[in-house]
Amino acid sequence: MKIITLWNQKGGVGKTTISFNLGTTLSNRGNKVLFIDLDPQSNLTYFFDPEIKNLKLGKADVKKVIEEEKTLKSSLYKSKRFSNISYLRGCYTEVEFPNVTTLRERISEVEDEFDYVIIDCHPDFHKASMNALYAADMIIVPVLLDGFSVSNLNLVTSNLLKIEDAKGGNINYRVVVNRLSRTKDKREKLDDLYNHHDYPLFNMCLGDTSKVNSALSVFKPLSMHRRSSGIAEDFNALTNEVVERLGE
Ligand SMILES: Nc1ncnc2c1ncn2[C@@H]1O[C@H](COP(=O)(O)OP(=O)(O)OP(=O)(O)O)[C@@H](O)[C@H]1O
Ligand SMILES: [Mg+2]
Repeated sequence: MKIITLWNQKGGVGKTTISFNLGTTLSNRGNKVLFIDLDPQSNLTYFFDPEIKNLKLGKADVKKVIEEEKTLKSSLYKSKRFSNISYLRGCYTEVEFPNVTTLRERISEVEDEFDYVIIDCHPDFHKASMNALYAADMIIVPVLLDGFSVSNLNLVTSNLLKIEDAKGGNINYRVVVNRLSRTKDKREKLDDLYNHHDYPLFNMCLGDTSKVNSALSVFKPLSMHRRSSGIAEDFNALTNEVVERLGE
């Protein structure tokens, strides 16, 4: 089982979009995938259960597993919309994690049942995100080539070093450029990121297209919504690179 965490302290960079498309691509390939929605916004949960109107219905969710020690196994829902996918619901309120290792310990309960665990985070470096970073075999940091995104990677890496200290070993993180368009400005920023910084980067980048929003609005991954589009290909390429790097 491999645990993949999508994280950046910056909001709106594509964490949830990538979680959903990466995880569904892995499940399409026959892998058993568990999604954990650690973001109180709970956007990811809605992709598996768009019918949910109110998450506070007393159903099993992250809070119950972490705070009330309900077993993880008994708290998972199987997606009715996608095969090979289970998910742990997010909840609207903050969850109290006793310490940084809690989530990893709880995931151990289902170690033999899943090939991949995908964790979507809130854009912060609070206890929940720290747990997700600690648990990860790979941390994917999406970045947009706008404003201060690249300079913010300094803060991202300094916080990742704190997780590395807590783990007492190397952490495996990699930055993926999201929403790359062909404008001169984006190309210059891309060149700067790849040639004048030493952050670990994915070889591939994800394009920028309104197809992403149109797919998300019907709760579908690009592989179902626009199977032969460039952006569906990008998610395929990302998945290939993730699998390859996790196998290294
Ligand atoms: N490659 C892309 N092309 C076009 N739009 C994109 C792309 N990736 C993400 N988006 C859009 O950007 C918006 C933010 O994406 P998303 O919700 O995945 O970000 P996030 O990092 O999870 O945000 P938050 O920090 O609020 O959880 C969404 O409207 C999504 O449709
Ligand atoms: Mg999100």
